Amino acid sequence: MSNFEKRRIAPSILSADFAHLAVEMSKVTEAGADLLHVDVMDGHFVPNLTIGMPVVQCLKPHAKIPMDVHLMIEKPEKYIEQFIKAGSQYLTLHVEATELMEESLKKIRELGCKAGITARPGTSLEAMKPFLHLVDLVLIMTVEPGFGGQKFMSSQLDKIKELVELRSKNGWNYLIEVDGGVNAETSKLCWQAGADILVAGSAVFDGAYTAEDYKTNIDKLR
Ligand code: DX5
Ligand code: ZN
Repeated sequence: MSNFEKRRIAPSILSADFAHLAVEMSKVTEAGADLLHVDVMDGHFVPNLTIGMPVVQCLKPHAKIPMDVHLMIEKPEKYIEQFIKAGSQYLTLHVEATELMEESLKKIRELGCKAGITARPGTSLEAMKPFLHLVDLVLIMTVEPGFGGQKFMSSQLDKIKELVELRSKNGWNYLIEVDGGVNAETSKLCWQAGADILVAGSAVFDGAYTAEDYKTNIDKLR
């Protein structure tokens, strides 16, 4: 199987029980998750506030699968080193949040981490194109960043298709990840469009408690 044929699932811990994050993490890992999606929000770039480096660092010894950290913060370049030291294995930056994208992506790779780029749904793919040769992951947002539990925007599916074409045309290697409103129905559209990783918060965690529940939910997405 090539790198782009596997259907990877990244549960977003934003929807997990914050009082038991390590336990939640091991349950989704047992349930077959491939990556652990960590949503970092600063109350400026997005209206919500979530978690920062100290929490990522505390989770590090418990993480048996890579932590995929999505930075929804202004000037993410200020925190790259700290997030990588804390245990991020993928670090994804918003194109709207920094004027230093190229330097930042290079720095992430130099520090031994996988570099990711993303954009708000309303931002054209053109904004990310100058950086696609520098990334290991491209994240397509299918909701406005800031909150879990929103409705999937199918208007973003064409971006996935274009990323697949650009990747093969240019011999690039990034994985294509989709984030927001992914459930058992919308996941089908994402796989069809060519996604490699689906992030899911509410579809994995809501109304579910055991590793078995999580496995049922993850299997439905795959
Ligand atoms: C939204 C976050 C998402 C969120 C997804 O800003 O980036 O990762 O947790 O949640 P669901 O799957 O519920 O849309
Ligand atoms: Zn996210």
